[in-house]
Amino acid sequence: MRVLIIYCHPSKKSYTYEVLQQLKTTLKNEQIDFEVSDLYAMRFKTDMSEAEYEREGLVNLDLPIPGDVMKEHQKIANADCIIFLYPVWWSDCPAKLKGWFDRVYSVGYAYGHNKSIHTIESMKTISKGIVICTAGHSNAFLNEIGIAKSMRTVMLDDRLGKRFKNKDMIILGGTINIDNVRTVHAETINKIGNYIKE
Ligand SMILES: Cc1cc2nc3c(=O)[nH]c(=O)nc-3n(C[C@H](O)[C@H](O)[C@H](O)COP(=O)(O)O)c2cc1C
Repeated sequence: MRVLIIYCHPSKKSYTYEVLQQLKTTLKNEQIDFEVSDLYAMRFKTDMSEAEYEREGLVNLDLPIPGDVMKEHQKIANADCIIFLYPVWWSDCPAKLKGWFDRVYSVGYAYGHNKSIHTIESMKTISKGIVICTAGHSNAFLNEIGIAKSMRTVMLDDRLGKRFKNKDMIILGGTINIDNVRTVHAETINKIGNYIKE
């Protein structure tokens, strides 16, 4: 079992970074092999260039896939489980993670397999996808206003979609009153091995 963590937060002073440290400790304790794509630390480019759009949008499959995207494809190829960890910003993931999907989910790789001449290998089906997001609002409030459902629909049904066999979303809500939720969040992260192996 090899886990790839796609981590998206700009600050080491953040609560989300604290969750990343807990997650890494738990995986080490469970002897689960992992690597991290830390999108801000890597300065991962998340704006699609005009040339990239011509491949993606106009489906000119002769245009090359950028090297940084190919590196992410290789990490995905090595993974049995991908964990996405990020803070909820305006009811979704930060724009940088959205840009990861825009660029890494290349046409002919993650979708649009029927369009071509296969110039690249298709993305393999990953056994497990886990989305972990920290949120200022409580889980109860996010459920009440329908945002928890919309985040699940967008992340699990669309972005992870059929590319993942099993999927879970863990909302670590209520960070606005962090002292009330820190312990229960930590207990959830400590049990992440159960989610990965299930
Ligand atoms: C730009 C921005 C937008 C945010 N939007 C939301 C939101 O839509 N819903 C929510 O529950 N919390 C929102 N928050 C709160 C974050 O989810 C919260 O700060 C995060 O879960 C934990 O904080 P951290 O930045 O210390 O990791 C937002 C925070 C920022 C900075």
